[in-house]
Amino acid sequence: MLKLAVLISGGGSNLKALLDAAADPAYPARVVAVGSDTDAAGLAHAEAAGVPTFIVRPRDYATREEWGQALAAAIREHGVSGVSAPGPASGPGSASGAGSASGPTSDPDPVRDAAREPGLVVSAGLMRILPAGFVRAFSPNLINTHPALLPLFPGAHAVRDALVAGATETGVTVHVIDEGVDTGPALRRAAVQVRPGETEEELHERIKQLERPLLVETVREIAAGELDLRIAASGAVDETDHRRDRS
Ligand code: GAR
Repeated sequence: MLKLAVLISGGGSNLKALLDAAADPAYPARVVAVGSDTDAAGLAHAEAAGVPTFIVRPRDYATREEWGQALAAAIREHGVSGVSAPGPASGPGSASGAGSASGPTSDPDPVRDAAREPGLVVSAGLMRILPAGFVRAFSPNLINTHPALLPLFPGAHAVRDALVAGATETGVTVHVIDEGVDTGPALRRAAVQVRPGETEEELHERIKQLERPLLVETVREIAAGELDLRIAASGAVDETDHRRDRS
């Protein structure tokens, strides 16, 4: 079972989609904690689902890196380490994969086995750039959902920027986070045609209608070991080639 730490800044509709999916015992991931940089309204979704929440505010730290260290510590407290310790069950980026059945070579100690799982950090509407030290600590088990067809329209105003640019098509990209701003390798995308006269809010809501199921499905693929984040993070292949060879 892949452990998810979800990071949000706003209403948390993508978080809600993950929580709803994870309520199904057949879904191979669970949200173990939800963090924010602010008093995000979406934290209420976690509280309603009985999932622990935490807030780590940048203003309480002298530098972005120190904020990132505090955020990482809060995530680790909930059992998402970001680190694959040596051993047979080392998480979604490993050959054995998160959620894989324990084979004859698996550690027989379930506590030690669980401690080896790096888990997955999901940035789902976190409106902050994660500092480099944080990214290095969790990479490649760190993904983001972004409301544009990256590399077009990175940054905090992707939907507005697409409209201002006169784009006729935009969409959503779920990608591995690297140390740049929305520059990490894409995992999955979905496209939306822009309607004439559409407002930013209308377009963003139509994007989110595709984004929520895309994020849920991408996390499922990672948790099921069908999508390999180490291969994706290497950037060596395009997004259609990240599936494991199951032959
Ligand atoms: C989502 O559309 C997400 O892609 C976007 O914020 C929205 C959060 O919606 N993130 C960014 O723009 C990051 N640059 P939600 O709070 O309803 O899930």
